[in-house]
Amino acid sequence: MFKKYTLVTLLLLGFITNIRADTPLKTAIASAHPLATAAGFEILNQGGNVFDAAVAVSATLAVVEPSGSGLGGGGYWLVHRANDNTTRFIDGREKAPLAAHKNVYVDSAGQVKNPRASLDGATAAAIPGLPAGLVHLAEHYGKLPLAVSLAPAIRHARNGFVVGQHHLDLLKYRETVLKQFPASSTIFLVNGQLPEKFALLRQVDLAETLTQLARYGRAGFYAHSVADKLLQAVQQAGGMWTAEDLQNYQVVEREPVVGNYRGIKVTSAPPSSAGGIVLLEALTILSAYDLAKLDKLTRIHLITEAMRRAYHDRALYLGDSDFVSVPMQRLLSEDYAAGLRSSMRMDAVLPSTQLSGDVLPDSEGGHTTHFSIIDTEGNRVAATLSINFPFGSGFVAAGTGVLLNDEMDDFVSHAGPNGYGLVGSAANMIAPGKRMLSSMTPTFLEDAGRVAVLGTPGGSRIISMVLLATLDFAKATSPMSWVTLPRFHHQYLPDVVEYENAAFTEQELVALKGLGHHLKATVNPYGNMQAAVLYKHTHALNAASDPRGEGLATVK
Ligand code: DON
Repeated sequence: MFKKYTLVTLLLLGFITNIRADTPLKTAIASAHPLATAAGFEILNQGGNVFDAAVAVSATLAVVEPSGSGLGGGGYWLVHRANDNTTRFIDGREKAPLAAHKNVYVDSAGQVKNPRASLDGATAAAIPGLPAGLVHLAEHYGKLPLAVSLAPAIRHARNGFVVGQHHLDLLKYRETVLKQFPASSTIFLVNGQLPEKFALLRQVDLAETLTQLARYGRAGFYAHSVADKLLQAVQQAGGMWTAEDLQNYQVVEREPVVGNYRGIKVTSAPPSSAGGIVLLEALTILSAYDLAKLDKLTRIHLITEAMRRAYHDRALYLGDSDFVSVPMQRLLSEDYAAGLRSSMRMDAVLPSTQLSGDVLPDSEGGHTTHFSIIDTEGNRVAATLSINFPFGSGFVAAGTGVLLNDEMDDFVSHAGPNGYGLVGSAANMIAPGKRMLSSMTPTFLEDAGRVAVLGTPGGSRIISMVLLATLDFAKATSPMSWVTLPRFHHQYLPDVVEYENAAFTEQELVALKGLGHHLKATVNPYGNMQAAVLYKHTHALNAASDPRGEGLATVK
């Protein structure tokens, strides 16, 4: 008996090994910029694994898409290593400086002192986590030294690259802020004016900062000359940073949030992001319905009602779990979902005002970036990286080339700005050293035949975009379908369904209104989803980059 099984096992192993031997290792990379995708392959060609490639893609995006992410910001890397079946969430989210406190942007009467203080300039900047994230990824998961994996980013910063329309549009959006800061305007503007199309953007100081990071690891950013320059610039401009803040910054490895939606294993972002919990809560509510069998109108209605309830809980309960207790198990339980479902009707909405609980205004939005990587062995990275608004706070620390984030605005404050209408509770109030709640949702989806990697920028709408893509994945569609499909969104408050024009027909709009939904078309299409998939049985790969953006998906 034993021998028989051993023989079968050996034959099977041989079979599997043969498949592997016959299948050259291939990789799929989808990112928001062709140069970043190319940087990933450059590093793979030099013997790097997908985690080295992720370092290269992250760092290159920081250079060639400075509106979206950068060394002055933070992000999350959801990683899976196939050989020991490790799945981890690397939390490189920015942290509030130690001098920050819950009333830092308001006066004693709870009034906002200066509505721009958490959005523009050094006062808006939290302590960056992206550089520490790159070092962590390289040291714990990569094979190559940072000197190799950061080389493409350094080269693009030093030699320059041609800016695209997306860059120019976002520059225009933040032009007035960038103009306020000479170090920013010298780099991003030409004699104080917007550059021409096809202009070359060189970032010599940033190349030097990246070189310091390559040479000295985390000390190359959080200590030594770069840290001195960062502190000098921030403090001179009224910011809160101290040397202690920089020295103390640590990334945290966390267990991802894991759940199941009708046979699909969903692995996503835990706090300090709201992403995974809100995504899974909405999916658990929806799992009781066979959406494929329902008409489109009922489907849209139910998905919207699930979004409303899950985003309501985001507002009530979610914040940095290192500081507040997040009732994760309860929010993700089937019983809890059943309770929420019981208030859902097929033929009417429940207005958001009738959901209970005290919430405060929060704001969120701007720009961000995502990339997805997977190889034929199943090693993979889903990374969403941000400096919050386009070009972050608009403030470059002189001599570093580092554009600082304005992520402090993702906290909730008593009477804080309400740009994107998100609301929150005490769970997401500012505290020294705390991470501000994010919506970034880097995610893996897995069913019997496929493993997918996906995510997108888009502020509060990130989670609903990943939700719609997950429901589409469930229909056995391809990455191009997930990234292309028309989007709609409900975030509890404001009590409105925002939708891309292509999402609903005129008839559907009338019918949704009839059910009691308030509808608002978005001015432009939104999101920039990057997705990749491995077909487990054939080892084939596929990937897609959102046609709304200028990214590139490649398999080779
Ligand atoms: O962490 C967050 O949720 C936000 N700072 C992300 C901002 C964003 O995605 C803007 N994108 N368009």
